[in-house]
Amino acid sequence: MSLPLPGPMSLVPFVSVETMMRIVLEQGVERILVDLAAYIEEDFLRWEQFDKTPRVAAHSPEGVIELMPASDGRSYGFKYVNGHPRNIRTGRQTVTAFGVLADVETGYPVLLTEMTILTALRTAATSAVVAKHLAPKGAKVMAMIGNGAQSEFQCLAFKAICGIDTVRLYDIDGKATEKAARNLAGKGLTVVPCASAEQAIEGAQIITTCTADKQYATILGDNMVGSGVHINAIGGDCPGKTELHRDILARSEIFVEYPPQTRIEGEIQQLAPDHPVTEIWQVMAGKAPGRRDGTQITLFDSVGFATEDFSALRYLRDILASRQDLQMLDLLADPDDPRDLFGMIERYGKAVEAA
Ligand SMILES: NC(=O)c1ccc[n+]([C@@H]2O[C@H](COP(=O)([O-])OP(=O)(O)OC[C@H]3O[C@@H](n4cnc5c(N)ncnc54)[C@H](O)[C@@H]3O)[C@@H](O)[C@H]2O)c1
Repeated sequence: MSLPLPGPMSLVPFVSVETMMRIVLEQGVERILVDLAAYIEEDFLRWEQFDKTPRVAAHSPEGVIELMPASDGRSYGFKYVNGHPRNIRTGRQTVTAFGVLADVETGYPVLLTEMTILTALRTAATSAVVAKHLAPKGAKVMAMIGNGAQSEFQCLAFKAICGIDTVRLYDIDGKATEKAARNLAGKGLTVVPCASAEQAIEGAQIITTCTADKQYATILGDNMVGSGVHINAIGGDCPGKTELHRDILARSEIFVEYPPQTRIEGEIQQLAPDHPVTEIWQVMAGKAPGRRDGTQITLFDSVGFATEDFSALRYLRDILASRQDLQMLDLLADPDDPRDLFGMIERYGKAVEAA
């Protein structure tokens, strides 16, 4: 006698790291970044439809574990993500993630996926789509400070979405810069490894900081930042973890994702709780100005918000619709009689005995 197979309602599509890598290779990184950016912008444009909350963070001396939920009333998504800067010492990544998209009407998950790669893609796509609204016109050169896991994705997103043709790389660990330069070779960017942050920002119209250190770090000092640049600050995303000198913030026009979360986690945790900031969705929707002139310093104080993950999950669900080779996980109990969950175990036990 054979064991009962899981019913159709028990199965949820599952995207493993391997499947995600296949998707990225098949679609091409830059195409995914461009398509993802469109989904992210589309969701920022319907910002008011979303049920939003600052992410739920569990802090420890070494890092943070966070849950990031968002819903548009039809679908509900959440991401589990960690941030542990010292993990690389034991061969682990600083950031790993997975997530779920669910149907609000039934509460049933419709997708379970790895989100470590997806987070790198969505963070880069978000940075670049925001820079499209804030960076100086005709920007071609970006300084990329912090050359870890996120960095190549950032560089390629700025190439594909903003037209950057040169990246100037710097990391306190020269091996990270070598790795990023190697990965970016032949990808259509002029890559300039630099020996200091000061050297990296020479001639750059966009400065991306994407370092990982659980402290109030000063990756950019006040005298390093001239007028007219756009700063894309990615790495300061936790209480007590920032990258920019406070004086830079005072000279910048600051743009954020969701103020209730950014005021806790972003660079602006260094400022008064009522310091003026502009919500980036308002710029995208034409309700607030972005860059006004060529001398302004614009700062995207990015912490990563749940709607961006929701957009990424929505994008993934849409491209999976045409795939035949999806792995299905037996994730949800599906008894013949929905109220007979207990009996389902008993019947399974009998089938195991008889088999
Ligand atoms: N805003 C967002 O949406 C978002 C999303 C993902 C990750 N992050 C954050 O981005 C940061 C980078 O993530 P990652 O996955 O690339 O981490 P990673 O550990 O792979 O890379 C970080 C790099 O920063 C370098 N670094 C540390 N201090 C430095 C300094 N003072 N100057 C120059 N380089 C320095 C390290 O040597 C390392 O190579 C993390 O802090 C992470 O929490 C933010």
